[in-house]
Amino acid sequence: MIEDLLSNNLKWANRIKQNDPDYFPNLSMQQNPDYLWIGCSDSRVPANEIVGMQPGQVFVHRNVANLVVHTDFNLLSVLQYAVDVLQVEHVIVCGHYGCGGVEAALANQQLGIIDNWLQNIKDIHQRHQEQFSGLSEKEQSNLLCELNVIEQAKNVSQTTIVQQALKRKQKLKIHGWIYSIADGLIKDLKVPV
Ligand code: CO
Repeated sequence: MIEDLLSNNLKWANRIKQNDPDYFPNLSMQQNPDYLWIGCSDSRVPANEIVGMQPGQVFVHRNVANLVVHTDFNLLSVLQYAVDVLQVEHVIVCGHYGCGGVEAALANQQLGIIDNWLQNIKDIHQRHQEQFSGLSEKEQSNLLCELNVIEQAKNVSQTTIVQQALKRKQKLKIHGWIYSIADGLIKDLKVPV
């Protein structure tokens, strides 16, 4: 029931205020996150929760299959604000195994307008086709989920926003991670960027 969300919110806010009356007044003064999270919209991968971060600690951008597309002004605006204004020290691209977007791209399903978005993943598949031969369906999906994270992390590093930040010696690291919904664990793919 939608009403439950609002009553949950009331309980949540009251619980926090009881523990720390200054919590919301402090939080409303400013945000000072060290991390930008670029993740999938999948409801099973809530950014803050899986890395134990509280409100105010992670700046978040999520889209289908955690893509970093150089013409996506939504993502570029988030990235620029995070890097230039908030001065985050880490950009984390976090994908997940069993990603519906990746699997739709792999199966070449026709789903409508999202096919154009997923074309970015089909391109990655094509570029790495030799790595997929002989793999089971599940292995192919896992591999493409990982390759997708690596490519998107590279895309982050290639943006003018990150390039200029590095040129002026701003402290900034790019990470490529993948989350397993099956056990709740994140693996660092050690993306060389
Ligand atoms: Co996904």
